[in-house]
Formats: sequence, structure tokens, C-alpha cells
Amino acid sequence: MATNTRHDTQPPGATTAGEARVLGHLINGYRITDVPGRMIASTNPARGDDVLATVALATTETFLQASKAARAAQSAWADVPAPVRGRVIAAAGRLVEANKEALAALVTREVGKTYAEALGEVQEVIDTCDFFLGEGRRLYGQTVPSEMADKELFTYRRPVGVAAIITAANFPAAVPSWYLVPALLCGNAVVWKPSEYAPVVADALAELFVRAGLPNGVLNLVHADGPTTFEGLDEALEAGYVDKVGFTGSTAAGRAVSELAGRHLQTPCLELGGKNPMVVAPDANLELAVEGALFAGFGTAGQRCTSLGTVWVHRAIHTDFIRAYTRAVEHAVIGDPTADVLYGPMISEAYLQRYQEYLDLILPHHTVHGSTSTGRITHANPRERFVGDPDAGWYAHPVIVDGVTAEDALYGTETFGPIVGVGCYDTLDEAIQLANGHGYGLSSSIYTNDPRTAWRFARGVSAGMTSINNSTSGAEAHLPFGGNGLSGNGSRQSGLWVLDQFTRWQSVNWDFAGRLQKAQLDTAVLPADVDYRL
Ligand code: UN1
Repeated sequence: MATNTRHDTQPPGATTAGEARVLGHLINGYRITDVPGRMIASTNPARGDDVLATVALATTETFLQASKAARAAQSAWADVPAPVRGRVIAAAGRLVEANKEALAALVTREVGKTYAEALGEVQEVIDTCDFFLGEGRRLYGQTVPSEMADKELFTYRRPVGVAAIITAANFPAAVPSWYLVPALLCGNAVVWKPSEYAPVVADALAELFVRAGLPNGVLNLVHADGPTTFEGLDEALEAGYVDKVGFTGSTAAGRAVSELAGRHLQTPCLELGGKNPMVVAPDANLELAVEGALFAGFGTAGQRCTSLGTVWVHRAIHTDFIRAYTRAVEHAVIGDPTADVLYGPMISEAYLQRYQEYLDLILPHHTVHGSTSTGRITHANPRERFVGDPDAGWYAHPVIVDGVTAEDALYGTETFGPIVGVGCYDTLDEAIQLANGHGYGLSSSIYTNDPRTAWRFARGVSAGMTSINNSTSGAEAHLPFGGNGLSGNGSRQSGLWVLDQFTRWQSVNWDFAGRLQKAQLDTAVLPADVDYRL
């Protein structure tokens, strides 16, 4: 196997040009900066004058080169004993833990997530490494009895090969780790295409993983835009360099990725959008439900795939709920993500712009609550309880839209911002129908103190994840994570379940009879008296 000479030949991290760092792609252990692609800058969404770095986006050729490097490195990596690969994952976890504050600070600076949430995000990377380091000593297969004598049957998990991983900006470290850690542990090589809105966090995370002992070419990082990635992926699949695609992003892009992978007879691992419902039953602890709806709807500025879409409140408590929810949202402090706030800026100007377009879905029959205004928060369009300089960043007013029905466009549209719909229901069956009716099926939640209501909802809701008396967001890192319908193809990340994404089962039989034993034909049959009756 090639040894990792990267750190002897190249200074770690990025090179600098003037003030802003210049990031490179990481291919076969080397940082590549001299590609002909379009330059982009990563800026702090809370402070437009703070440029973190610039990067020349890849061309399809660069993507292809990275996939080829991964293909070349993969088999030697697969030959490394799994427990040894597990030690690399252990070292990655230790490195991330030792750099927790620095990485969290980068997450806050690059995508505007509050520092408290950023620390939680980095913790999720550590938890994922902790979980999978032990899997290196398991990766269990089975021994299976044969139907013939002198024959043994086994199953083995084999690595899939090269995984192309495409991730989003809202969880720039945790969600990539959900793919990278199990993929690497299982003996795959990776080409990681992070979001263009979070290249610096990606660069830092890749650096920590490489320093954990990954040989050259096992983890490659390519900064690229969507169309180039799609084209590069198409060519890499065509050339036979990629065996598995992991994608986190919108349903529309996921559909395109899935079609592409399907043409190559592959099933991608998809983590797509959501319009996550929360049902508040008449017997619910209202205070708890409001607390959950505040965090689920407005934490991370509503930019989680698990963020709350619509609260379905039983008609009998609707007035009380709206009053309490409005008060909680009005009182929330928003602003500078390094301060103690509910949420900071949107990830970028583009995210804010797209979010603002969704405000057109608010119709005359709706009533709006939660802030002094809607749209962008500025000095001219202020929000009470705002900390920091609103004009310096991309901040959005929180919006509660009351009076949502299944006929509204808002009902079935993922809005990816600080907006939550509220509507009424009368029966549990109706609430379940409303929870499922738009076709998304990622996360969901119910607040009730009646176990029958809770379990009927859990059985009836089509979402891949459901919470009882808890928020729609904030899943733990070792339970299966994923959705159904418009939210995904049923693939699951995290915990043991993700192993099925990054390994393939191989059946092995070993016959030591010394003659050909034919299954079904040469099996012994012991006579049974099947006509016997008591
Ligand atoms: C995402 O938004 O893509 O459960 C993932 C949660 C987080 C992960 C969200 N742990 O909300």
C-alpha cells in the first residue's frame, strides 16, 4: 500500500493569498489549487465583510480525476484489517474532539449556526466516530447451516468500492460524517463533494480525517457546483469509478441523482427534504409542545431537513396553543450566532432570497404571528430582541402562519427557513392524514399523554422517524436516520443500519465432501407419516 506522504511534501491546510485563504481540492493526498474553474468566496453570513476563503471550483475533469484516485486506492484500503481501519476512525474521533471548539467556531463563522448548536454538530461527528470505531471489530457476518453434510455456509460484508458523497451546507460536518465514517470503516474509498456554502468546514474536517491515518487517495475532497458535480458523476459512473452515491439535499436534486445512479443499476443513499408535521393532541402538555415547536421550527433558522413544517393542533386547544407559541416566538432572541440566541443568519444570501420567495405562499386567509415584521431583518425592518448588526448579515424574521389547510401550497412545500404553519384537526385519523398527505416522510412528532394516541400515530404516520413528546429535529446519531416518499428511497443512515449502504453481502459456501453436492437435488429426505392424526 502507498504510504501517506502528504504531510512531508505539502504544508497542511490551505495556502494563503493576501488576506483570504485559498482552498484546494484534495486528490490522492495532494491539495490541488491550480484548476481552471470559477472562483468563489466563502463569506460569514453574519458579517459580509468577513471572507473565510476562496476556492476555484472543480471542472468535471477534476471530479473524474478524484474518482479515479479513489478507485486506485480502494482495494489496498479494503485489505487493511477492519479493526485497523477502526483505529483510524478512533483517531479521527479523537482529533475532532481535540479540535471541537475550533471546528465549531468555523461552523458558526461559515454557515451562521449558533455556537451552541455548532458544538452539538461537532459532538455528532465524535459520536459517529465512537460508534463506528468498535464496528471495525464486528462487521459481523453469519454462519448458516447447510442443507447438506460436509458443507459450511457463511455471509460476509464486502465494501461496495468507491462512494461519491454529496452533502449540504446546513450540517457541514455532522451529516458528512454520517457517510464518511461508515464508508471508510467498511473499506470504501470516498470522493466527497461538500456544499459550495461550506468549503472551509469541509476542508478542516477532511484535514482531520486524513491526519487520522488515511492513506493517500482514500478520502478525496472536490469543491464543485451542482451541474459540474452531476456531469462529473455521470462520467465517473460511466467510467466505472463510482459504485455508490450518497446524497443529502433537495428532493428535486435527489430525484436527478437517483435517476442517474439507477441508469447504472445502483441504488443511492438519499437524504432529502421534509415537511415535518407535529401533532398536538388535546391532552398534551402544552408548554412542552410549545418548547418543542420553538426549537423544531426556528432552531437553525428552520434550515434542518428535520425542521418543523406544520403544527396540527386539536381544535379544542388551538387558541391556547397559538397564544403561547406566539409569545414564545416573539420573546425569542435572534441575531449574532456567537451570542446566546435562538437562531442566527440564514446560511447565505441565496438561502435568504429563496426563503423570502416562500413568503408569497402566505394567503389572505392566513394570520401571521411571531415578529414585528416578515422578510429580512434590517435596521429599516427591525425585530425586537435582536442582537448584533442586522444589516451586516442575512437574517430573517420568524413567521408563524396560522390557518393552514391541506389545500394551501404552504402545506406541501418545504420552505427551509424560519416559518411554521399551524392548522387544526378534529380526529386522530384526520391528523394522521394531514401528517402524510403531502407525500414527504422524513420526521414527525406527536405531543400527547395518552399512549393509545401516541402509538396509533406512530403506526399511522409514514415518516421514517417519529418523536413522542419531543421535537421533529435533533435525532440521536445511532438510530436509523432517513425518510420515505419525497424524503428518500428508504435508505437509512447512522447506527448499524447504514452498514447496508456501504457493504454488500457476499454468500460463501465451502464444500469439503470431496464430491459435487447439488443443492435441492442431493439433500437427504427423512420419511414423515403425514397422514397420521390424533
Ligand atoms: C439535516 O438537516 O440534514 O436530527 C440533518 C437532526 C440533526 C440532523 C439533521 N441531528 O435534526
